[in-house]
Amino acid sequence: MTGVAAQLCGDRKTVESLGYRVDDQGIIYRQETDEHGKTVWVPFSKLGARRAVLNDLSPAATFIAYNYNTPVDVQAFEREAKRILEEVEEECGWMYATLHAPEAGVPEVLADRLRACKTADEARQLIGTLGNVGRINYTVWSDVFVCPECTQEVVFWEAAVDKEAGKVHSEFPCPHCGAMLTKRNMERAWVTKYDKAIGQTIRQAKQVPVLINYSVGKKRFEKTPDAFDLALIEKIEELDIPYWFPTDRMPEGEESRRNDDIGLTHVHHFYTKRNLWVLGAISKRVGAKTRLVFQSIAATLCSRLVRYNMGNRGNGPLSGTLYVSSLIAETRPTWVMPGKVRDFAKAFSAPSYSYVETHSTSFLRLKKHDVDYIFTDPPFGGNLMYSELNFLWEAWLKVFTNNKPEAITNKVQGKGLPEYQRLMTECFKEYYRVLKPGRWMTVEFHNSKNSVWNSIQEALQAAGFVIADVRTLDKKQGSFKQVTSAAAVKQDLIISCYKPNQGLEERFKLTAGTEEGVWDFVRAHLRQLPVVVENNGKLEVIAERQAYLLFDRMVAFHVQRGVMVPLSAAEFYAGLAQRFPERDGMYFLPEQVAEYDRRRLKAKEILQLSIFVTDEASAIQWLRQQLSKKPQTYQELHPQFLKEIGGWQKHEKPLELMELLEQNFLRYDGRGPIPPQIVSWMRQSAELRKIIQEELDAGRATEDNQGLHTTRAELLRRAKDRWYVPDPNRAADLEKLRERALLREFEEYKQFTGRRLKVFRLEAVRAGFKKAWQERDYQTIIQVARKIPETVLQEDPKLIMWYDQAVTRMGG
Ligand SMILES: C[S@@+](CC[C@H](N)C(=O)[O-])C[C@H]1O[C@@H](n2cnc3c(N)ncnc32)[C@H](O)[C@@H]1O
Repeated sequence: MTGVAAQLCGDRKTVESLGYRVDDQGIIYRQETDEHGKTVWVPFSKLGARRAVLNDLSPAATFIAYNYNTPVDVQAFEREAKRILEEVEEECGWMYATLHAPEAGVPEVLADRLRACKTADEARQLIGTLGNVGRINYTVWSDVFVCPECTQEVVFWEAAVDKEAGKVHSEFPCPHCGAMLTKRNMERAWVTKYDKAIGQTIRQAKQVPVLINYSVGKKRFEKTPDAFDLALIEKIEELDIPYWFPTDRMPEGEESRRNDDIGLTHVHHFYTKRNLWVLGAISKRVGAKTRLVFQSIAATLCSRLVRYNMGNRGNGPLSGTLYVSSLIAETRPTWVMPGKVRDFAKAFSAPSYSYVETHSTSFLRLKKHDVDYIFTDPPFGGNLMYSELNFLWEAWLKVFTNNKPEAITNKVQGKGLPEYQRLMTECFKEYYRVLKPGRWMTVEFHNSKNSVWNSIQEALQAAGFVIADVRTLDKKQGSFKQVTSAAAVKQDLIISCYKPNQGLEERFKLTAGTEEGVWDFVRAHLRQLPVVVENNGKLEVIAERQAYLLFDRMVAFHVQRGVMVPLSAAEFYAGLAQRFPERDGMYFLPEQVAEYDRRRLKAKEILQLSIFVTDEASAIQWLRQQLSKKPQTYQELHPQFLKEIGGWQKHEKPLELMELLEQNFLRYDGRGPIPPQIVSWMRQSAELRKIIQEELDAGRATEDNQGLHTTRAELLRRAKDRWYVPDPNRAADLEKLRERALLREFEEYKQFTGRRLKVFRLEAVRAGFKKAWQERDYQTIIQVARKIPETVLQEDPKLIMWYDQAVTRMGG
């Protein structure tokens, strides 16, 4: 689909449907609001297909990619598909014949005649002579169990399914003895047979046909299989399939071998005999283009993976698994083929070629700096076992995934999180190599586990990328939302990251480890970030422009390049405020701030980021947000704070609100000038504004950068005991004190002699790791890391960064 999107960049209609305008020269414009609040169209891109290089490890994936991204003569494709369909129907249609409303006794008589046929041709001829015959669309097969009370066979369909209501009961009486049964308390019934294809006797869970859905002309009917239907199935079982079909053993893997215990051990076991026969017949006939239709039918729609949907539309497999249900729908391949042909004919729109490669992204056949932009959606840890799931598909293609470099977590493949991270890092390094400096990569990622998200983040940074934005993607609504802590969201994320331009990397080599290097990085990073993000006339706070995230990115940039970080957080915050203009808690380059100011004047409101309080760091962020909106007293804050901390992580040491306030914020005690932060809040009230003005006008008060010097009791009373966000210099002082307290606490963890720390202060561990790393004391990092639960380590992006570094430096 990346290839399709690249092609569609040249399609005017598609581009316009996304809300852009395209002029006669093909220039693309996007909508913005100007300083007068009027809508203006700003040029930003050019119409034209982009040339894509598509890569995946799986032949199934690149086979699809090739088909969607190569020009097709659609009419020729449809003609060929129709011809194949007719030929196969002619040859194999008899296997799906059923008698429509036969008179009593007729099915039995015809069943006998069928049994007497010796060859497929004889059977086909016999059926060709019958009148009033319907064509089976699908046959429902049901599991068969054994009642533990009376030992008789129980057909699941008969015992557990309420056909009227279309429901399956989880508990039901045995149709023979009435004992109450569940699937769990019954044994399966088995069939043992000789499997000629593999030359072995096999034992499979028994399934029997229980319902036939068929058509006569355009009308659809349903029936219970009669003697003729059963005889037909038996006859086909006796005959040999005259075509090749895949007989591979399912590969090792929890997903791919999940059906071993019901005897579905080889690829051909995933099909009924007649479907296998017909699929073999189609497979033999399809050409380069029509094979895609065949593959999509063979791998899923006509296998035993298709669940019966109780007569509703949409019999189909459960995606992401090879689960075989107790009620399957054996679907006639030639019944579903025309629909697939129509679907593909509509989708084949590629006007030009893309270049498709099948191998690991850790080795690309591209030159350094060849690529303008990368879009990638890597596997998400152990969410989906691609090579196992693709096995049926690939067995028909006769080419399999080389799963060695497959970037997943998988027990059988011996890949845990560290192996996954290593493989991802190798791929990202290769992306880094081929991308032009200063250019971007978009990573789509489904965040199902914090630890996997951290591996991805760590891998990206280890490869040299700088993350500049993380958003959630709502696929249904097609909307994006910024996130402050991706760990808190379990959904699709869009990560934007860039390869720093060569200038920065080269300058950094010279200035690495100096203050100059820090500010050079910050300048380059700020330049890459959007200046304004507008959403329906409202401005969003851009998370990445906040001091704490800038600090994190700066640290990561140094650490990943093996360079000491020359500034403490306190020094960084103070330096940041000295060098860069700040607005709404965000930092800008001097040349960017004018644009922000202009747009801010017009904006209806500033949208605050939503922050989930789960630990000390997020609690501080949350408090900073509250207090910059409005300086507040402890009494005002406390009830709100209690509401926020419901999600406090269990290993994180609980902290009192007072402690958090004292370590990070300032309180006005009623003495000296009222701090500017409180004054500007007071001015928002008409009443207080009036009093302040009166005092200033009468010369009883003065105002300077320390705040408002006044003795007016009313003002002092209203300002007293309010907590506020300190200015950067004072913040730096506080930060120093806090860091000292954190390191004292870390020292305790270092001395701790028990096996595991159960509850601790994450910020203290982070501070301690950072200091140890600076001092090249990797042993301390590793020692303390062993004392904290592994999940905590894996789920914290900062801890894992220091830990990985320490392990690497120790040669681990
Ligand atoms: C989330 S899927 C994306 C698939 C595809 N982009 C799509 O939209 O259908 C992840 C893909 O990564 C592939 N993959 C896993 N390890 C890989 C590696 N080392 N190199 C290249 N591709 C890999 C899997 O085969 C799988 O198709």
